[in-house]
Amino acid sequence: MAFFFCFLFFFLSSFAAACDRCVHQTKAAYFSSSAPLSSGACGYGSLALSFNAGYLAAGVSSLYRDGVGCGACFQIRCKNETLCNGGGTKVILTDLNRNNQTDLVLSSRAFSAMAHQGMARDILKLGILDVEYKRIPCDYKKQKLSVRVEETSQRPHYLAIKLLYQGGQTDIVAVDVAQVGSSNWRYMSRKYGTVWDTSRVPMGALQFRLVVTGGFDGKWVWAPKVLPADWRPGMTYDSGIQITDIAQEGCSPCNDQHWS
Ligand SMILES: *[C@@H]1O[C@H](CO)[C@@H](O)[C@H](O)[C@H]1NC(C)=O
Ligand SMILES: *[C@@H]1O[C@H](CO)[C@@H](O)[C@H](O)[C@H]1NC(C)=O
Repeated sequence: MAFFFCFLFFFLSSFAAACDRCVHQTKAAYFSSSAPLSSGACGYGSLALSFNAGYLAAGVSSLYRDGVGCGACFQIRCKNETLCNGGGTKVILTDLNRNNQTDLVLSSRAFSAMAHQGMARDILKLGILDVEYKRIPCDYKKQKLSVRVEETSQRPHYLAIKLLYQGGQTDIVAVDVAQVGSSNWRYMSRKYGTVWDTSRVPMGALQFRLVVTGGFDGKWVWAPKVLPADWRPGMTYDSGIQITDIAQEGCSPCNDQHWS
């Protein structure tokens, strides 16, 4: 694992300038119903509809990244100056877009928010727009990173969790679990989307540690006490910590303008 990361950082740092705001050009469409945004590739289900006031997006596989991209935040703006405002919309990625006509499909609320005042109807009528987007940090003011125990879990044999409210601008690439007070860490596997599982469940109350990375840097994040000994399927537990790091990507030139 360590070798892999060293190699990755060296590889990435060797070709482009460090940048936390690489801008990408693409097209975006919208879903007239919110159902596809909670259809399940990320594992959020209907919970997704409560995220970010309904400003949601599904991304193609290069954004979904086998689930690593779930929960990432993006600022997206359309490019027709007559119709589109400069700040665009800020969305959270909650699903995989399997339709390859556009990279991004937004909730209609997020899509309309890209329009100048009074022009939402016009951009909705167009349906597909040229846009540019960049990843931005997710900012959960009230919520800490949380662990939801999936209904498929069965104490003490099987534990499946999903991670909610991941702040900052990094990727969670590994999750380990151990009994509180023990250093006998066991790795969890990404089952799909943001769901991780293990059938070697430690006894008692549980702590977690995560590897967060993205671009040039990676580090361990430790949540020392998360699940109580009597953890239950369907419950969400506050990890007590939040991720605030902002990872660098490689791109050139780097666009560090503020979009507003
Ligand atoms: C912007 O949108 C308006 C209305 O749809 C259209 O008439 C105009 O040609 C567009 N401008 C560009 C540069 O595409
Ligand atoms: C989109 O996907 C379909 C079916 O997989 C494929 O036939 C088509 O070539 C793809 N279009 C583009 C633009 O990649």
